[in-house]
Amino acid sequence: MADVRRVIGLSLGADLCWPICYEEVLDRLDLNVEIEGDSIRFDVERVTIEPFYLRQPVRYDVVIDRLTHWYGTSREWIKKAILMDGLYVFNNPWSIQSNEKHTSYCAMMRLGMPIPTTWMVPPKSYDSRADLDITLERYARMFDLAELGEKVGYPMYIKPYDGGGWAGVSRIGTADDLQRLYDESGTYLMHLQQAVDPHDLFIRCVGLGPQVRVVRYDPGAALHDRYTTDDGAVPDDQRQHLVDTTLTINSFFGWDFNSCEALRQDDAWFPIDFANPCPDSQVTSLHYHFPWLIAANLRWSLFCAATRRPMRPNLDWQPYFDIADTDAPYEEKLKGYAAIARDRLQTDAFEAFCAEHLSHLDQVLWDFFGTDTAHDAVRLKVGAMYPDHEVDEYTEKFWSRIQQWRQDSAP
Ligand SMILES: Nc1ncnc2c1ncn2[C@@H]1O[C@H](COP(=O)(O)OP(=O)(O)O)[C@@H](O)[C@H]1O
Ligand SMILES: [Mg+2]
Repeated sequence: MADVRRVIGLSLGADLCWPICYEEVLDRLDLNVEIEGDSIRFDVERVTIEPFYLRQPVRYDVVIDRLTHWYGTSREWIKKAILMDGLYVFNNPWSIQSNEKHTSYCAMMRLGMPIPTTWMVPPKSYDSRADLDITLERYARMFDLAELGEKVGYPMYIKPYDGGGWAGVSRIGTADDLQRLYDESGTYLMHLQQAVDPHDLFIRCVGLGPQVRVVRYDPGAALHDRYTTDDGAVPDDQRQHLVDTTLTINSFFGWDFNSCEALRQDDAWFPIDFANPCPDSQVTSLHYHFPWLIAANLRWSLFCAATRRPMRPNLDWQPYFDIADTDAPYEEKLKGYAAIARDRLQTDAFEAFCAEHLSHLDQVLWDFFGTDTAHDAVRLKVGAMYPDHEVDEYTEKFWSRIQQWRQDSAP
């Protein structure tokens, strides 16, 4: 039997709390996993940023990345490591770079999802460049924004085609608002999207590998209260619909870790925002759900590292389109997409791995979230985000929600 070490790298930016908890719980798991005659142990390291030779080997088996969407050096190092060294990373960096919200709307419409009516409008203004004037003079057609407003219908949302973090998102009730907000949008390339209004439930599904957490979301609440502590009491069939939708989107785009937002109107679910491939992982947003994230992250990364799960070299969308092109009702198509997702995410093998090697995780996690180390990690994050005079109050707020989770899910 060979003794093998697998190394998991954490490629981090401002993240503070989850890496500490991830490292601590991994240590406490004290894993020695036996697979196919190998005895596997795991190390975790934080990935540093430095010049790299393109042929230089990497020592990681898996990297959990939090930088690709904005930090080029890390993204390009990851691409090299996938191509040259067979690294497994979540998420697929090419897919993050190229599949923004707009593509995600189009692709999911192609699969039959009820995405609200959405139009793209050319930007109000431009940064000047050599060929701009001649291009616009020749080809840009004048358009009547008020007429377009009627086609989309009020209320609507105006939002950047590649948005995130609510930047540049506004609700529009009238043609005057539309004109004013379009004029203010400047060089942003914007969508106009029909509002799902009214809706009786807003759900955010966080997917990590084949695991999905369903959380009721309250967009009108303060930042630390937007993830509520409940799951909206969604009936089982609707819950399955949401899980299948999330897994479909995530597997379609090669995103192991992504969150999907959907709104319910008359018992139908409308996905509105599901290109979030670097979801919020902070205890200051997730609080009650934070232990779930740590456990889900550990399970999936350990499975990928232990089994040396290969990175898919391409996204291969045809099998989804083949289902989309049948005459089956949408719910049946969705089951077909979800079956592809579960297969691509090796769900059966993953579940067997967890049952065989990680059966003590729930207890270790539960114990850990009662320790001073966990409390200190929460406080550290709160200290980095809140003014000094609020640190005690907010540390205790998030800590008490974690303790609530411990009460609700004692192993
Ligand atoms: N079509 C829509 N119907 C109803 N609410 C919407 C719609 N689009 C956006 N919103 C609201 O605006 C918020 C931000 O928009 P979203 O598309 O999620 O952008 P971001 O990627 O910046 O989070 C949503 O959380 C939701 O509250
Ligand atoms: Mg959103």
